[in-house]
Amino acid sequence: MTSSPAPQAASVPVPFRPGLEGVPATQSAICDIDGIRGLLTYRGYPLEQLAANSTFLETAYLLIWGELPTIFQLRDFEQEVQMHRRVSFRIRDMMKCFPAGGHPMDALQASAASLGLFYSRRALDDPQYVFDAVVRLIAKIPTMVAAFQLIRKGQDPIQPRDDLAYSANFLYMLTEREPDPIAARIFDRCLILHAEHSLNASTFSARVTASTLTDPYAVVASAVGTLAGPLHGGANEDVLEMLEEIGTVDAVESWLDQAIKARKKIMGFGHREYKVKDPRAVILQKLAEDLFLRFGHDAMYDVARRLEEVAADRLGPKGIYPNVDFYSGLVYRKLGIPRDLFTPIFAIARTAGWLAHWREQLGANRIYRPTQIYTGSGERAWLPLESRPAVV
Ligand code: COA
Repeated sequence: MTSSPAPQAASVPVPFRPGLEGVPATQSAICDIDGIRGLLTYRGYPLEQLAANSTFLETAYLLIWGELPTIFQLRDFEQEVQMHRRVSFRIRDMMKCFPAGGHPMDALQASAASLGLFYSRRALDDPQYVFDAVVRLIAKIPTMVAAFQLIRKGQDPIQPRDDLAYSANFLYMLTEREPDPIAARIFDRCLILHAEHSLNASTFSARVTASTLTDPYAVVASAVGTLAGPLHGGANEDVLEMLEEIGTVDAVESWLDQAIKARKKIMGFGHREYKVKDPRAVILQKLAEDLFLRFGHDAMYDVARRLEEVAADRLGPKGIYPNVDFYSGLVYRKLGIPRDLFTPIFAIARTAGWLAHWREQLGANRIYRPTQIYTGSGERAWLPLESRPAVV
């Protein structure tokens, strides 16, 4: 069968950049990354200052509405979030039908999307609708993550506790125990660190979905699906597997050399934006050390530190250093969180960033519709079945 050659692409205004590397796809005032100096700011505030002094809900408010809240705004936001933590029994019943062996990210994506069935009005220009949607998503995503954890163990989800703050309540719903206050604060700081990171894949996905003017539940559900992949949020699960595979400090060097020889990607290393150690990894490493001091050491941390040290020689010259996922798994493991919940927890935090981008996108919306460079067949005539050549 013959076909005419593919037509030459019409003149392409910009060169093709795989992965859109370096291509600005939006303007944004939410988050700034200096990948050379290893600096990250949310709305102009350095991440280190927010992680040290702020709470996750305060940071979420800052990201979504652009300014740090006053004491009254913060109390109001916290109260609204607290009032909307419960999820409908219909959603809990739906989750009970999910296979217990399914990945919690899939359960979260389905449950987040189902919120649109309950709050489907798309009054995107109504500030009250926008506020309510923000509150519901920030409030209910953790409840859904915790609910699936208990449901898959054959238990009924437990109700949120109004006397506990956001992170303490999540850990309580997950473990059925009131958490140690220091552990709850460290967890809250982890949420701050994961709350936003400019136009990463899931946020881009959120903005593309938002640009169609669909509802915010679909926006968050699409972003959750994108975050689930191992090249994005899923990497922190893989980091622990990798550290366990390496096993001991002494095995690090030869393991790394073999991995590099086999052209394997080292999980928890590398970032499109950073050419130095990710500032979030710096803070997470410190949080891990704080946790080990209080609750006992983890030998895997020594393996991780040695890997970072050896990798600095081998991968550092290419600008490949630990990213946010390298130490977060060790922190969550010490907090007793099951491995496949690491990415859903990332989603709890990143919901704040996705919603900030949802609002920003709506503020100056134009539907995303990039172009492509067609590389397929030229025009050809349809053949009846009996005339088609056999495929070998
Ligand atoms: N280990 C070893 N080499 C790596 C690497 C890693 N973790 N990350 C990037 N590289 C190398 C690639 O092999 C490639 O080398 P080459 O030019 O010799 O072929 C070069 O660096 C560029 O890599 P590329 O995958 O094109 O970079 P990217 O910007 O598209 O990808 C990541 C960024 C994050 C997807 C990538 O670094 C990665 O896969 N890291 C591991 C997964 C991970 O930790 N993800 C969490 C991100 S927060």
